[in-house]
Amino acid sequence: MRDPTSFLRTEYEALVKSELEWRIRVLQGPSTPWCTVDGKKVLMFCSNNYLGFSNHPKLKEAALKAVQTHGAGSGSVRPIAGTMDIHVELERRLAKFKHAEASLVYQTGFAANAGLIPQLVGKEDLIISDELNHGSIIDGVRLAHGERAVYKHSDMQDLARVLDEAEKHSPPYRRILIITDGVFSMDGDIAPLDKVAKLAAEHGAMVYVDDAHGEGVLGEDGRGIVSHFKLGRDKVHVEMGTFSKAFGVVGGHVSGSKDLVNFGYNKSRTWLLSGSHPPAVAAACIAAIDVLETEPQHVRTLWEHTKYFKKAMKDLGFNIGNSETPITPIIVGESGLAKKLSTRLFEEGVFALPIIFPMVARDKARIRTIMNAALTKKDLDFAMSAFEKIGEELHII
Ligand SMILES: Cc1ncc(COP(=O)(O)O)c(C=O)c1O
Repeated sequence: MRDPTSFLRTEYEALVKSELEWRIRVLQGPSTPWCTVDGKKVLMFCSNNYLGFSNHPKLKEAALKAVQTHGAGSGSVRPIAGTMDIHVELERRLAKFKHAEASLVYQTGFAANAGLIPQLVGKEDLIISDELNHGSIIDGVRLAHGERAVYKHSDMQDLARVLDEAEKHSPPYRRILIITDGVFSMDGDIAPLDKVAKLAAEHGAMVYVDDAHGEGVLGEDGRGIVSHFKLGRDKVHVEMGTFSKAFGVVGGHVSGSKDLVNFGYNKSRTWLLSGSHPPAVAAACIAAIDVLETEPQHVRTLWEHTKYFKKAMKDLGFNIGNSETPITPIIVGESGLAKKLSTRLFEEGVFALPIIFPMVARDKARIRTIMNAALTKKDLDFAMSAFEKIGEELHII
């Protein structure tokens, strides 16, 4: 007789046995540099809250005010009765910030990728994706009806090869979409978007960049990767991002032409069929844009801290990979060692999670640290001395 649910337990137990299950740590209070996690006061070193905005007074105040003026929820999906003036204002402000013709806000970045990518290509088309793209892109690509090709990570020769191969297809592909992360979240390297855009232009291909980890970090006052490479909107056609990282709130978005936005909201099922953000979320996102536009010190401090930390960790003898951004991996090799390092760091008061296979190659297990502008130099020194002490204890350095 078929057992309808036994797989739930057996599959979970298999994950536990191979030490691949997520053990969720609980934050008891706001995501601040010193925070309480599982009852212990620790230094936050792995949050995506790059600029400390999730606890910024202006964002909190905007959220509280929006609850008073607009209520707790929006009451509907965007196309029916869930578009409030506050949502429209957020899109207007985001487009202005991004120097784009228009922007469209989704519930999350995942929803943006899963909802828009499948609509951009059909059966007669091809999607070309970097091999290390984020899971939400992978799922968006899987939902698409087009053909798929993958190029080696950030390898422009390989992308050129795939494009040349694509040109031989008969009948010719109607559209080609090239899609890449802007900043790769496991290694902190930046996609060569200028080169991707150049190759795309030679083949009449559309360029889609997921800038989840570049916004608030790269470019003029944190405008992101398109600004970083000073690329025009005719070169990068879809700039996708999220309010859940440096912006400190939640919500996905795409920026580009008015045509893109009109197409996007009429076709993306994740946008059409899922409730819109509570007013507090939209208001806090607007406040995050205000803060980015008026308080440039946060992005500046983020980079000063990043340079200071990377140099010190390298000088201590840690393998910090080839990151070019505030994501600094501390690569130790074997999964068990990464886990041990993370546990010992936690005991010493530093919260930084291990990243192990299958998220990275088996021999590239690491602690992924993410810099935060709200930390002080004293905090960084505290973290570095913990890394030094435990690094020596575990014979990593
Ligand atoms: C590269 C990338 N794209 C998309 C997402 C999803 O964004 P969100 O948290 O808004 O769903 C993430 C978040 O983990 C990400 O790192």
